[in-house]
Amino acid sequence: MTASTDGAPSHADVLWLTQLHDISLSRMLYAVTRLGVPDLLGRGEDHEAAEIADRLEVDADSLDRILRALAAAGIFERTSGTRYRNTPTSLLLCTNGGQLADEVQLQAEYLAFGDIEHVVRTGRPAMAEQGGFYQALDRNDDWANTFRRACRSRSGRTFSAVLRSHDWGRSRRILDIGGGVGHHLETVLAGHPGKTGTLIDRAAGIAQAREREWQPGVRDRVEFAALDYMADPMPPADCALLVNVLHNLPDHQVCELLAGLRQRSACDRLVIGEYVLPESPHEPHPGLLADVWMLVLVGGRERRRSEFENLFSEAGWKLVVTREDPVTRGALLDCTRAE
Ligand SMILES: C[S@@+](CC[C@H](N)C(=O)[O-])C[C@H]1O[C@@H](n2cnc3c(N)ncnc32)[C@H](O)[C@@H]1O
Repeated sequence: MTASTDGAPSHADVLWLTQLHDISLSRMLYAVTRLGVPDLLGRGEDHEAAEIADRLEVDADSLDRILRALAAAGIFERTSGTRYRNTPTSLLLCTNGGQLADEVQLQAEYLAFGDIEHVVRTGRPAMAEQGGFYQALDRNDDWANTFRRACRSRSGRTFSAVLRSHDWGRSRRILDIGGGVGHHLETVLAGHPGKTGTLIDRAAGIAQAREREWQPGVRDRVEFAALDYMADPMPPADCALLVNVLHNLPDHQVCELLAGLRQRSACDRLVIGEYVLPESPHEPHPGLLADVWMLVLVGGRERRRSEFENLFSEAGWKLVVTREDPVTRGALLDCTRAE
């Protein structure tokens, strides 16, 4: 690394190490997770790279060099020349329960980011010419399944605590709209044995939700409906939950969806789960990066509180209260019908 005259790393080196370097790091994590290296190492002793390569039927020299680089980045532990074992960090990549295994395997998202120059030039999301991101997932089961599992783990980490502690009051039947495989609905119903719910998503998501395991005592209180949330009449309910749905949409479609829910559902309450971007230009916030994901993938955006209030008001809803998880910054915006 080059150093400036006062001994500190140059701005170029800092940028290279922290930003540009991320591309290779994220793809190395993708490769070792997909190949099953953390699974093979498990919680046991260290292994010779050549032995791991042999068991996974991959090239020993390539694997050793990638593991060596990942060990230098603190992901695996290199115990001697070519021997490696898992660390608490690489255990997160185990496919049988590691929290990050699905998020590092996102592939459609990686390809979409390859199109970012086009996104900035045109203001249109990546893959727009091929019909859009969700349509790309429809054509590739592997991408779609990874996306749904990654949504479940990331969105679960962000919103579980605030959903659990939310006051669901008199709402008896809850629609989880664009609910993926229903993990948020499950969290809410598990804490409220008197409540029931309907999970609404596209057909493939609903099929996966029906098949997966649910917490005991919850599955029999859930109905499943493969519906288009932009157009179809909604099943009877008094509250609609939409987590990480509005950020998928540009402003005019948020208005169309929320105004439509006034007409097409009986709900008198909306609970919206999203990041709420800070008004201050100096406050760091995970939503600032998430906003660029929405820009690139689907042409959506993250929003400030004032922006939400304007959209709710335009669509005939009124924001009553906002609660935010101070750690994850996931927020719930609770709305009623405006008079
Ligand atoms: C970002 S995911 C959020 C999933 C879940 N709410 C969560 O927080 O993990 C958005 C969901 O909306 C669903 N979706 C997108 N367009 C839809 C539509 N027109 N009708 C119904 N569901 C749709 C997708 O299949 C996906 O499951």
